[in-house]
Amino acid sequence: MLRTEITERLGIQHPIVQGPFGGGISTPQLVAEVGKAGGLGSFGAYTLSAHEIEDVTNKIRALSNHPFALNLWVSDHDRGGDRLTPEQFDAAWKIFKPLYDEFELEKPVPPVKFFHGFETQIEAVLEARPAAFSFVFGVPKGAILAECSRRGITTIGAVTTLAEAEAMDAAGVDVILTTGFEAAGHRPSFLGSAELSLMGTLTLTRLVAAKIKRRPVIAAGGIVDRPGIQAALDLGAAGAQLGTAFLACEESGTTKEHRDALFGEGGQRTVLTRTYSGRLARGIPNRLIEALTPYVDKLPPFPIEVWFTSPLRKAAAAQGRTDFLALYAGQGAPLLKHRRVADLMADLTAN
Ligand SMILES: Cc1cc2nc3c(=O)[nH]c(=O)nc-3n(C[C@H](O)[C@H](O)[C@H](O)COP(=O)(O)O)c2cc1C
Repeated sequence: MLRTEITERLGIQHPIVQGPFGGGISTPQLVAEVGKAGGLGSFGAYTLSAHEIEDVTNKIRALSNHPFALNLWVSDHDRGGDRLTPEQFDAAWKIFKPLYDEFELEKPVPPVKFFHGFETQIEAVLEARPAAFSFVFGVPKGAILAECSRRGITTIGAVTTLAEAEAMDAAGVDVILTTGFEAAGHRPSFLGSAELSLMGTLTLTRLVAAKIKRRPVIAAGGIVDRPGIQAALDLGAAGAQLGTAFLACEESGTTKEHRDALFGEGGQRTVLTRTYSGRLARGIPNRLIEALTPYVDKLPPFPIEVWFTSPLRKAAAAQGRTDFLALYAGQGAPLLKHRRVADLMADLTAN
C-alpha cells in the first residue's frame, strides 16, 4: 500500500496499526502476526507490572523482529478511584449484591491496591524501547516524552477533541491518534468529560489533520476494511488504527464467545456505557449493562467499578455466558469478515 509519514517513520510496510487491547486481551502472537504482515502491532499493557511488561516484550521479540508499540493509560484512576471508605464500599455493595447472588458469589473483601502505577510502568516501556509508545487518557510529562525521543521511541497520543489534539501538539507528542466515538473500548477523553467529547472519526480526523499540519495523524474508530482506511487517508491521516477488526481474529486474547458476539446480531447495535468500568466505553448491550444502567450515577469510579464487576465476568465466563462480560465492540462490527490476522491483513492491503 501507499507510503506515508507513518510507514516511513515506523519502518512498516502499510499505514495500518493494530489497536492495543488492555486488560489481558492483547497477545504477543497478535502483535507478531500484524508485524509480519507489514502493519504495526500494539500491546495494551496498562494492567501489567513492570516485570510483566519486560516479559511480554521478550515474548514479542522472540516471535518477530518487526516494529511494534507498547500502550499504557496515563491516568489510571478517576477522582475518588484511589480509595474506598467502608461507607462507600457498602453503598456500592448494595448495587452489586443481587448480581453476585445470581452467581452465588461471596461478598468481596475491599482491594488493597486500586490503580496500576503509570510511573513504574513507563520505566519498563522506556527500558523495552519499542518502536512506538502509544497512550490514552492524558499527556505524559515532558521528561517522559523527551526520554522517548532520546531513545528513538515514537510517541502516539489519543485524542477525542481538537483541544486535546492541540494539547498533544503543544507537549511535543509525535503522532496524534484521532479516536472517533465509533471506536470499541474506552473513550479516552482527558480534557472534558467523555460524554461531552463525542466527535465522530470523520470530523475529528479532518479537523486535526487540517489544523495541526506539523504532526502526522492516525485515525481510529469504525475502520474495519480497505475503503475505511482509504477514507482516513483522504481525510489527511497518515494511517489508520483498527481495533474491532483485530479483536475478531483468533490471535487476539478475547474469548470465542466475545468474537462470536462481534459477528452476531449484537454487533449491530453497540452502545456507550459506563457500566463496564466506570469510564465511558463502547460495547454490545447485555444483562450487565441493563442491570447497572439504572444505577449509573451511583456506580463507583474507575477502577473500583472494574474491581466489583470482574468477579461477575469471571463467573459468567466460566459458565460460557456472555451476558455479564464486557463485550467491547465498535460500530464497524457488522462489516467484519475475517477471523485470522493473515486473511485480514491480505484483504486490507490488496491492490
Ligand atoms: C477490548 C478492547 C480493549 C482496548 N484497550 C485499549 C487500551 O488499553 N489502550 C488503548 O489505547 N486503546 C484500547 N482500545 C482501543 C483500540 O486500540 C482501538 O483504538 C479501537 O478499537 C479502534 O476503534 P474500532 O474498534 O472501531 O476499530 C481497546 C479496544 C478494545 C476493543
